[in-house]
Amino acid sequence: MARIVRLYRTGGPEELTLEEAAPEQPGAGEVRIRVEAIGLNNSEVQFRHGVYPLPTGSLPSRIGRECSGVVEAVGDGVQQFAIGEEVSTIPAFDIQRNGVYGEWCVVPETALERMPARLSRLEAAAVWQQYLTAYGPLVLFSRLTPHSVVLILAGASSVGLGAIQVAKLFGATVIATTRTAAKQDILHRTGADHVIISDGTDVAPRVREITGARGFDVALDPIAGPGLAELADAAGQEAAIFVYGQLSPEPTPLPLIPLLRKGLTIRGYTLWEITLQPERREAARRFILRHLESRALSPVIDRVYTLDEIVEAHRYLESGRQAGKVVVRV
Ligand SMILES: NC(=O)c1ccc[n+]([C@@H]2O[C@H](COP(=O)([O-])OP(=O)(O)OC[C@H]3O[C@@H](n4cnc5c(N)ncnc54)[C@H](OP(=O)(O)O)[C@@H]3O)[C@@H](O)[C@H]2O)c1
Repeated sequence: MARIVRLYRTGGPEELTLEEAAPEQPGAGEVRIRVEAIGLNNSEVQFRHGVYPLPTGSLPSRIGRECSGVVEAVGDGVQQFAIGEEVSTIPAFDIQRNGVYGEWCVVPETALERMPARLSRLEAAAVWQQYLTAYGPLVLFSRLTPHSVVLILAGASSVGLGAIQVAKLFGATVIATTRTAAKQDILHRTGADHVIISDGTDVAPRVREITGARGFDVALDPIAGPGLAELADAAGQEAAIFVYGQLSPEPTPLPLIPLLRKGLTIRGYTLWEITLQPERREAARRFILRHLESRALSPVIDRVYTLDEIVEAHRYLESGRQAGKVVVRV
Protein backbone atom coordinates (compact mmCIF):
# COMPACT_ATOMS: atom_id res chain seq x y z
CA MET A 1 0.00 0.00 0.00
CA ALA A 2 1.07 3.62 -0.53
CA ARG A 3 -0.47 7.00 0.03
CA ILE A 4 -2.44 8.85 -2.63
CA VAL A 5 -4.74 11.90 -2.56
CA ARG A 6 -8.40 11.49 -3.50
CA LEU A 7 -11.19 14.01 -3.80
CA TYR A 8 -14.59 12.67 -2.67
CA ARG A 9 -16.46 15.97 -2.91
CA THR A 10 -15.70 19.43 -4.13
CA GLY A 11 -14.85 22.19 -1.65
CA GLY A 12 -12.00 23.63 0.42
CA PRO A 13 -8.44 22.31 0.79
CA GLU A 14 -9.55 19.91 3.55
CA GLU A 15 -11.42 17.90 0.90
CA LEU A 16 -8.05 16.58 -0.29
CA THR A 17 -8.03 13.16 1.39
CA LEU A 18 -4.71 11.41 1.93
CA GLU A 19 -5.35 7.65 2.03
CA GLU A 20 -3.65 4.28 1.52
CA ALA A 21 -4.20 2.55 -1.82
CA ALA A 22 -2.56 -0.43 -3.51
CA PRO A 23 -0.54 0.74 -6.53
CA GLU A 24 -2.44 -0.01 -9.74
CA GLN A 25 -1.00 -2.07 -12.56
CA PRO A 26 -0.53 0.19 -15.58
CA GLY A 27 -2.75 -0.67 -18.57
CA ALA A 28 -1.62 -0.87 -22.19
CA GLY A 29 0.52 2.13 -23.08
CA GLU A 30 0.71 3.31 -19.45
CA VAL A 31 3.46 3.46 -16.85
CA ARG A 32 3.38 3.68 -13.08
CA ILE A 33 5.63 6.30 -11.51
CA ARG A 34 7.03 6.33 -8.00
CA VAL A 35 6.40 10.00 -7.41
CA GLU A 36 9.17 12.10 -5.87
CA ALA A 37 7.84 15.62 -6.31
CA ILE A 38 4.53 17.19 -7.34
CA GLY A 39 4.10 20.61 -8.95
CA LEU A 40 0.83 22.25 -7.87
CA ASN A 41 -1.24 24.32 -10.28
CA ASN A 42 -3.99 26.83 -9.71
CA SER A 43 -6.27 24.88 -12.05
CA GLU A 44 -6.25 22.14 -9.38
CA VAL A 45 -7.70 24.63 -6.88
CA GLN A 46 -10.48 25.36 -9.38
CA PHE A 47 -10.97 21.64 -10.00
CA ARG A 48 -11.17 20.99 -6.24
CA HIS A 49 -13.85 23.67 -5.92
CA GLY A 50 -15.77 22.19 -8.86
CA VAL A 51 -15.41 25.42 -10.88
CA TYR A 52 -12.79 24.32 -13.40
CA PRO A 53 -13.97 26.03 -16.61
CA LEU A 54 -13.55 22.93 -18.80
CA PRO A 55 -15.68 19.76 -18.49
CA THR A 56 -14.78 17.20 -15.82
CA GLY A 57 -16.30 13.86 -14.80
CA SER A 58 -17.70 12.48 -11.56
CA LEU A 59 -16.18 12.01 -8.09
CA PRO A 60 -14.36 10.37 -6.37
CA SER A 61 -11.35 11.36 -8.35
CA ARG A 62 -7.62 11.69 -8.27
CA ILE A 63 -6.09 15.10 -8.89
CA GLY A 64 -2.87 16.67 -10.15
CA ARG A 65 -1.00 16.94 -13.43
CA GLU A 66 2.68 17.59 -12.80
CA CYS A 67 5.15 15.31 -11.05
CA SER A 68 8.65 13.94 -11.29
CA GLY A 69 9.74 10.48 -10.22
CA VAL A 70 10.95 7.05 -11.32
CA VAL A 71 9.21 4.54 -13.60
CA GLU A 72 8.40 1.50 -11.47
CA ALA A 73 6.09 -0.55 -13.74
CA VAL A 74 5.21 -0.49 -17.44
CA GLY A 75 2.08 -1.75 -19.24
CA ASP A 76 1.85 -3.70 -22.48
CA GLY A 77 3.24 -2.00 -25.53
CA VAL A 78 5.27 0.66 -23.70
CA GLN A 79 8.25 1.36 -25.97
CA GLN A 80 9.94 4.55 -24.92
CA PHE A 81 10.46 4.18 -21.18
CA ALA A 82 11.86 1.41 -18.96
CA ILE A 83 11.66 0.63 -15.26
CA GLY A 84 14.11 2.75 -13.28
CA GLU A 85 14.09 5.77 -15.62
CA GLU A 86 13.71 9.24 -14.14
CA VAL A 87 10.85 11.12 -15.72
CA SER A 88 8.43 13.99 -15.31
CA THR A 89 4.88 14.37 -16.61
CA ILE A 90 3.64 16.63 -19.38
CA PRO A 91 0.07 17.65 -18.41
CA ALA A 92 -1.67 15.84 -21.27
CA PHE A 93 -3.96 13.28 -19.65
CA ASP A 94 -7.14 12.80 -17.64
CA ILE A 95 -6.56 14.48 -14.25
CA GLN A 96 -9.28 12.33 -12.66
CA ARG A 97 -8.01 8.90 -13.67
CA ASN A 98 -4.31 9.71 -13.93
CA GLY A 99 -3.97 12.37 -11.21
CA VAL A 100 -0.46 12.51 -9.79
CA TYR A 101 -0.93 13.65 -6.16
CA GLY A 102 0.42 10.74 -4.10
CA GLU A 103 3.31 8.30 -3.81
CA TRP A 104 2.33 6.65 -7.10
CA CYS A 105 0.43 7.52 -10.24
CA VAL A 106 -0.38 5.78 -13.51
CA VAL A 107 -0.10 7.94 -16.63
CA PRO A 108 0.09 7.35 -20.40
CA GLU A 109 3.60 6.81 -21.72
CA THR A 110 2.93 9.71 -24.08
CA ALA A 111 2.78 12.08 -21.08
CA LEU A 112 6.36 11.36 -19.98
CA GLU A 113 9.54 13.28 -20.54
CA ARG A 114 13.16 12.73 -19.53
CA MET A 115 14.55 15.83 -17.86
CA PRO A 116 17.98 17.48 -18.13
CA ALA A 117 20.29 16.07 -15.46
CA ARG A 118 20.94 19.55 -14.10
CA LEU A 119 17.38 19.92 -12.82
CA SER A 120 16.55 18.76 -9.30
CA ARG A 121 13.53 16.50 -8.78
CA LEU A 122 11.65 19.47 -7.37
CA GLU A 123 12.41 21.60 -10.44
CA ALA A 124 11.55 18.71 -12.78
CA ALA A 125 8.00 18.75 -11.34
CA ALA A 126 7.68 22.45 -12.13
CA VAL A 127 8.52 22.72 -15.83
CA TRP A 128 5.85 21.69 -18.31
CA GLN A 129 2.66 23.47 -17.33
CA GLN A 130 4.26 26.90 -17.10
CA TYR A 131 6.51 26.77 -20.16
CA LEU A 132 4.05 24.97 -22.46
CA THR A 133 1.40 27.54 -21.54
CA ALA A 134 3.78 30.39 -22.36
CA TYR A 135 5.07 28.71 -25.53
CA GLY A 136 1.82 28.95 -27.54
CA PRO A 137 1.14 32.68 -27.19
CA LEU A 138 4.77 33.82 -27.17
CA VAL A 139 6.53 31.46 -29.56
CA LEU A 140 4.07 29.61 -31.79
CA PHE A 141 1.42 32.29 -32.35
CA SER A 142 3.52 35.49 -32.13
CA ARG A 143 6.66 36.76 -33.77
CA LEU A 144 8.42 38.47 -30.90
CA THR A 145 11.41 40.68 -31.59
CA PRO A 146 13.45 43.04 -29.41
CA HIS A 147 10.93 45.74 -30.45
CA SER A 148 7.94 43.83 -29.07
CA VAL A 149 6.18 44.86 -25.87
CA VAL A 150 4.66 41.95 -23.94
CA LEU A 151 2.22 42.49 -21.07
CA ILE A 152 1.96 39.61 -18.61
CA LEU A 153 -0.94 39.74 -16.17
CA ALA A 154 -0.55 38.04 -12.79
CA GLY A 155 3.15 38.07 -13.65
CA ALA A 156 4.19 36.39 -10.39
CA SER A 157 1.95 33.37 -10.99
CA SER A 158 3.83 30.23 -11.96
CA VAL A 159 2.83 30.64 -15.61
CA GLY A 160 3.52 34.38 -15.40
CA LEU A 161 7.14 33.97 -14.27
CA GLY A 162 7.68 31.27 -16.91
CA ALA A 163 6.23 33.61 -19.56
CA ILE A 164 8.55 36.45 -18.51
CA GLN A 165 11.53 34.15 -19.04
CA VAL A 166 10.23 33.04 -22.46
CA ALA A 167 9.55 36.63 -23.64
CA LYS A 168 13.04 37.72 -22.56
CA LEU A 169 14.57 34.98 -24.78
CA PHE A 170 13.43 37.17 -27.70
CA GLY A 171 14.65 40.41 -26.14
CA ALA A 172 11.10 41.78 -25.84
CA THR A 173 10.22 44.50 -23.33
CA VAL A 174 8.19 42.84 -20.58
CA ILE A 175 5.61 44.60 -18.44
CA ALA A 176 4.22 42.45 -15.61
CA THR A 177 1.29 43.14 -13.31
CA THR A 178 0.67 42.03 -9.73
CA ARG A 179 -1.77 43.06 -7.04
CA THR A 180 0.89 42.50 -4.40
CA ALA A 181 3.69 45.06 -3.95
CA ALA A 182 5.89 42.47 -2.19
CA LYS A 183 6.14 40.51 -5.48
CA GLN A 184 7.82 43.38 -7.33
CA ASP A 185 11.37 42.17 -6.60
CA ILE A 186 10.87 38.62 -7.86
CA LEU A 187 9.26 40.01 -11.02
CA HIS A 188 12.28 42.21 -11.74
CA ARG A 189 14.70 39.42 -10.83
CA THR A 190 12.94 37.07 -13.26
CA GLY A 191 13.33 39.60 -16.08
CA ALA A 192 10.36 41.98 -16.05
CA ASP A 193 11.46 45.43 -17.28
CA HIS A 194 8.46 47.17 -15.72
CA VAL A 195 6.07 46.15 -12.95
CA ILE A 196 2.57 47.56 -12.55
CA ILE A 197 1.14 47.05 -9.08
CA SER A 198 -2.58 47.05 -9.71
CA ASP A 199 -5.84 45.28 -9.11
CA GLY A 200 -6.45 45.70 -12.84
CA THR A 201 -8.10 49.12 -12.76
CA ASP A 202 -5.29 51.42 -13.89
CA VAL A 203 -3.28 49.26 -16.25
CA ALA A 204 -3.98 51.24 -19.45
CA PRO A 205 -2.50 54.62 -18.34
CA ARG A 206 0.56 52.89 -16.90
CA VAL A 207 1.16 50.90 -20.10
CA ARG A 208 0.77 54.08 -22.17
CA GLU A 209 3.21 55.87 -19.89
CA ILE A 210 5.77 53.04 -20.26
CA THR A 211 5.36 52.57 -24.03
CA GLY A 212 4.98 56.21 -25.02
CA ALA A 213 1.33 55.78 -26.06
CA ARG A 214 2.14 52.87 -28.38
CA GLY A 215 0.60 50.14 -26.20
CA PHE A 216 1.57 46.48 -25.97
CA ASP A 217 1.83 44.00 -28.85
CA VAL A 218 0.99 40.77 -27.02
CA ALA A 219 -0.72 40.21 -23.66
CA LEU A 220 -1.17 37.03 -21.61
CA ASP A 221 -4.22 37.18 -19.40
CA PRO A 222 -5.17 34.44 -16.89
CA ILE A 223 -7.66 36.74 -15.10
CA ALA A 224 -10.29 37.90 -17.67
CA GLY A 225 -13.39 39.57 -16.10
CA PRO A 226 -13.98 43.34 -16.34
CA GLY A 227 -10.19 43.95 -16.54
CA LEU A 228 -10.27 42.82 -20.17
CA ALA A 229 -11.66 46.25 -21.11
CA GLU A 230 -8.66 47.89 -19.43
CA LEU A 231 -6.38 45.58 -21.39
CA ALA A 232 -8.03 46.49 -24.69
CA ASP A 233 -7.42 50.16 -23.82
CA ALA A 234 -3.74 49.40 -23.17
CA ALA A 235 -3.32 47.46 -26.41
CA GLY A 236 -1.42 48.72 -29.43
CA GLN A 237 -2.75 48.62 -32.99
CA GLU A 238 -3.42 44.99 -34.09
CA ALA A 239 -2.24 43.65 -30.73
CA ALA A 240 -3.14 40.15 -29.57
CA ILE A 241 -4.58 39.29 -26.15
CA PHE A 242 -4.37 35.63 -25.17
CA VAL A 243 -6.89 34.82 -22.44
CA TYR A 244 -5.84 31.54 -20.86
CA GLY A 245 -7.59 31.49 -17.48
CA GLN A 246 -10.50 32.81 -15.47
CA LEU A 247 -9.15 33.93 -12.10
CA SER A 248 -11.73 36.73 -11.94
CA PRO A 249 -15.09 35.52 -10.60
CA GLU A 250 -16.88 38.24 -12.60
CA PRO A 251 -18.29 38.11 -16.16
CA THR A 252 -16.06 39.19 -19.04
CA PRO A 253 -17.73 41.82 -21.27
CA LEU A 254 -16.32 42.08 -24.79
CA PRO A 255 -14.58 45.48 -25.25
CA LEU A 256 -16.04 45.95 -28.71
CA ILE A 257 -15.05 49.56 -29.50
CA PRO A 258 -11.26 49.19 -28.97
CA LEU A 259 -11.50 45.74 -30.55
CA LEU A 260 -12.86 47.30 -33.75
CA ARG A 261 -10.83 50.48 -33.67
CA LYS A 262 -7.47 48.76 -33.16
CA GLY A 263 -8.14 45.51 -35.02
CA LEU A 264 -7.36 43.53 -31.88
CA THR A 265 -7.25 39.77 -31.60
CA ILE A 266 -8.72 38.49 -28.33
CA ARG A 267 -8.12 34.79 -28.29
CA GLY A 268 -8.74 31.92 -25.91
CA TYR A 269 -5.86 29.54 -25.37
CA THR A 270 -5.07 26.29 -23.57
CA LEU A 271 -1.82 24.37 -23.58
CA TRP A 272 -3.75 21.47 -25.14
CA GLU A 273 -3.35 23.35 -28.42
CA ILE A 274 0.27 22.24 -28.05
CA THR A 275 0.11 18.95 -26.15
CA LEU A 276 -2.58 17.30 -28.31
CA GLN A 277 -0.84 18.05 -31.61
CA PRO A 278 2.30 15.92 -32.01
CA GLU A 279 4.25 18.28 -34.28
CA ARG A 280 3.60 21.32 -32.11
CA ARG A 281 4.35 19.36 -28.98
CA GLU A 282 7.67 18.11 -30.34
CA ALA A 283 8.72 21.63 -31.36
CA ALA A 284 7.69 23.00 -27.96
CA ARG A 285 9.45 20.19 -26.13
CA ARG A 286 12.73 20.84 -28.01
CA PHE A 287 12.48 24.58 -27.44
CA ILE A 288 11.89 24.20 -23.70
CA LEU A 289 14.54 21.51 -23.16
CA ARG A 290 17.12 23.55 -25.12
CA HIS A 291 16.56 26.60 -22.96
CA LEU A 292 16.45 24.58 -19.73
CA GLU A 293 19.86 23.18 -20.68
CA SER A 294 21.25 26.67 -21.21
CA ARG A 295 19.56 27.85 -17.98
CA ALA A 296 17.77 30.66 -19.81
CA LEU A 297 14.62 28.95 -18.54
CA SER A 298 14.75 28.03 -14.89
CA PRO A 299 11.67 27.18 -12.79
CA VAL A 300 11.08 29.55 -9.88
CA ILE A 301 10.04 27.55 -6.82
CA ASP A 302 8.33 29.57 -4.15
CA ARG A 303 7.71 27.05 -1.38
CA VAL A 304 8.08 23.30 -0.75
CA TYR A 305 5.66 21.20 1.31
CA THR A 306 5.55 17.48 2.17
CA LEU A 307 2.76 15.15 1.07
CA ASP A 308 1.44 15.13 4.65
CA GLU A 309 0.98 18.88 4.25
CA ILE A 310 -1.06 18.71 1.01
CA VAL A 311 -4.04 20.49 2.59
CA GLU A 312 -1.78 23.26 3.88
CA ALA A 313 -0.06 23.47 0.48
CA HIS A 314 -3.42 24.02 -1.26
CA ARG A 315 -4.45 26.55 1.36
CA TYR A 316 -1.30 28.51 0.57
CA LEU A 317 -1.86 28.19 -3.21
CA GLU A 318 -5.38 29.50 -2.78
CA SER A 319 -4.20 32.43 -0.64
CA GLY A 320 -2.52 33.99 -3.70
CA ARG A 321 0.59 34.81 -1.62
CA GLN A 322 2.88 32.62 -3.76
CA ALA A 323 5.27 33.94 -6.37
CA GLY A 324 6.21 31.03 -8.59
CA LYS A 325 5.65 27.34 -8.13
CA VAL A 326 4.42 25.54 -5.03
CA VAL A 327 5.95 22.06 -4.96
CA VAL A 328 5.31 19.00 -2.76
CA ARG A 329 8.24 16.74 -1.86
CA VAL A 330 7.06 13.13 -1.63
N1 LIG B 1 -5.18 27.64 -20.45
C1 LIG B 1 -4.19 26.90 -19.99
O1 LIG B 1 -3.68 26.01 -20.65
C2 LIG B 1 -3.67 27.17 -18.60
C3 LIG B 1 -2.45 26.62 -18.20
C4 LIG B 1 -1.98 26.95 -16.91
C5 LIG B 1 -2.74 27.77 -16.08
N2 LIG B 1 -3.94 28.23 -16.51
C6 LIG B 1 -4.75 29.11 -15.67
O2 LIG B 1 -3.96 30.24 -15.33
C7 LIG B 1 -4.32 30.71 -14.05
C8 LIG B 1 -3.06 30.88 -13.21
O3 LIG B 1 -2.49 29.59 -12.96
P1 LIG B 1 -1.10 29.46 -12.18
O4 LIG B 1 -0.98 28.03 -11.78
O5 LIG B 1 0.00 30.09 -12.95
O6 LIG B 1 -1.42 30.39 -10.90
P2 LIG B 1 -0.62 30.62 -9.53
O7 LIG B 1 0.81 30.31 -9.72
O8 LIG B 1 -1.35 29.92 -8.45
O9 LIG B 1 -0.76 32.21 -9.34
C9 LIG B 1 -2.00 32.84 -9.21
C10 LIG B 1 -1.77 34.35 -8.99
O10 LIG B 1 -2.73 35.07 -9.74
C11 LIG B 1 -3.06 36.27 -9.07
N3 LIG B 1 -4.51 36.27 -8.89
C12 LIG B 1 -5.28 35.35 -8.29
N4 LIG B 1 -6.59 35.69 -8.34
C13 LIG B 1 -6.65 36.85 -9.00
C14 LIG B 1 -7.70 37.71 -9.37
N5 LIG B 1 -8.98 37.44 -9.08
N6 LIG B 1 -7.40 38.83 -10.05
C15 LIG B 1 -6.13 39.09 -10.34
N7 LIG B 1 -5.08 38.32 -10.01
C16 LIG B 1 -5.34 37.19 -9.36
C17 LIG B 1 -2.34 36.28 -7.73
O11 LIG B 1 -1.13 37.01 -7.89
P3 LIG B 1 -0.92 38.56 -7.44
O12 LIG B 1 -1.00 38.64 -5.95
O13 LIG B 1 0.45 38.82 -7.93
O14 LIG B 1 -1.95 39.39 -8.11
C18 LIG B 1 -1.98 34.80 -7.55
O15 LIG B 1 -0.82 34.60 -6.79
C19 LIG B 1 -5.35 29.73 -13.51
O16 LIG B 1 -6.63 30.26 -13.76
C20 LIG B 1 -5.14 28.49 -14.34
O17 LIG B 1 -6.30 27.72 -14.46
C21 LIG B 1 -4.42 27.94 -17.76
